[in-house]
Amino acid sequence: MLSSLLTVAAYAGSAIALNNGVGKLLKMGFDTFNAFVCDYDEVKVLVQAEAMVKYGLVAAGYNSIILDDCFTLKNRSVDGKLVEDPAKWPNGLKHFTTAINKMGISASAYSDAGYNTCAGYPGSYGYEAQDLETWTEWGFDYLKYDNCFIPFDNVTQENIYGRYERMANAIAAHARKTHSQPMWLSLCEWGWQQPWIWGKRLGHSWRINGDIKPWWSSLASIIDQASFQYWSSDFYGHNDMDMLEVGNTGQGNPIGNLTYEEAKSHFTAWALLKSPLIIGTDLSNATKETIEILGNQDLIKINQDPNIGEAISPFRWGINPDYVSNSTHPAQYWSGNSSYGIVFMVLNTEDKSADMFFNLTESWAIRAGHLYSVYDMWSHTNNGSALRNISLTLPPHGAAALLLNDAGPEPNADTLNLPYCAGYWQCSFPNGTYYSN
Ligand code: GAL
Repeated sequence: MLSSLLTVAAYAGSAIALNNGVGKLLKMGFDTFNAFVCDYDEVKVLVQAEAMVKYGLVAAGYNSIILDDCFTLKNRSVDGKLVEDPAKWPNGLKHFTTAINKMGISASAYSDAGYNTCAGYPGSYGYEAQDLETWTEWGFDYLKYDNCFIPFDNVTQENIYGRYERMANAIAAHARKTHSQPMWLSLCEWGWQQPWIWGKRLGHSWRINGDIKPWWSSLASIIDQASFQYWSSDFYGHNDMDMLEVGNTGQGNPIGNLTYEEAKSHFTAWALLKSPLIIGTDLSNATKETIEILGNQDLIKINQDPNIGEAISPFRWGINPDYVSNSTHPAQYWSGNSSYGIVFMVLNTEDKSADMFFNLTESWAIRAGHLYSVYDMWSHTNNGSALRNISLTLPPHGAAALLLNDAGPEPNADTLNLPYCAGYWQCSFPNGTYYSN
């Protein structure tokens, strides 16, 4: 009886983010999987690292490389240790991680909470502590932890939470034992079991969806999912919307299967929804557009805001009259707070260009009766000031990213012949008569 009570207590604590000194802000970097699957080695990844430096991406904040699935041999050594693949790392993994460290890039590892990784390499179930020692020895400081090849229920006697907790506990124990910074833990269970509820107790980010694909319908459905889970992201714990598919996806088209406008919308949503910014495309011959989009400093600085951790949230859902969203037409009107001003994202989810319109006070963050200066985070220009509302025309699947700042009380409403209140349905005269516009 006592032990079952203790178990309940362990699972029922409030979801406080894991503030263990790492992962306050979002991870930025490059991941090998979407660009190369298992087909990579030291030479190929160093080309990516060099491109990250050359194109200014390291300076822009992309300072880690995740070796995703397939960087070890398929079998452990006789003493259970992970073995680096000598064909991929002829000079050893430590040599590789040291080389990228010198370029200002840290090294991140990948493993799995089951017997095998998703591509059939050794998983860490039952080897958590040993594998952590090995990754540390090889120079990794971050772990992406997947959820394939799970042992039977009678073996684990745990749910997803419990299997991830094994690794989280091993990380905490290892940090205590070695007096070192805990490994940064990124959970990859694809949003199966509401990781936005519990992920923050164990790790620093959690995937909210299956694997992203480099086309619009995939982006739209991830944005739709995020429109219901945005509230969970804050310092030390973040919804992970998966990799950025901006650029050469290795699928034949140099800017991927996305149009330029779609790629900008993709980056806008990922940055402002406070997803980790992990590049999933081959950077070796990146186009000017790819670098412009991935390097957008106005959006990166909001993603990396040191004072405000929360994500933008929708103030209208969907495009239907009842504002119900669906995975092809996610929320179009979003806003939130930042250290630099009030952020708006307006997204045209239609396949044709569309006129978009919103009242400023539809956003919780706006002060009624004030003018706002408007800065466009894609053209990087000041676009005058907004009085009451904003109208814009957006291309198919295009987005606007705006930063608004209070420019003082608006001019006298009588002179401008404006309604007395923007949201007039509850406004009243001092005598208690409702005002109607
Ligand atoms: C998937 C994961 C991908 C990638 C892949 C490796 O489960 O979502 O991002 O890590 O496994 O096999």
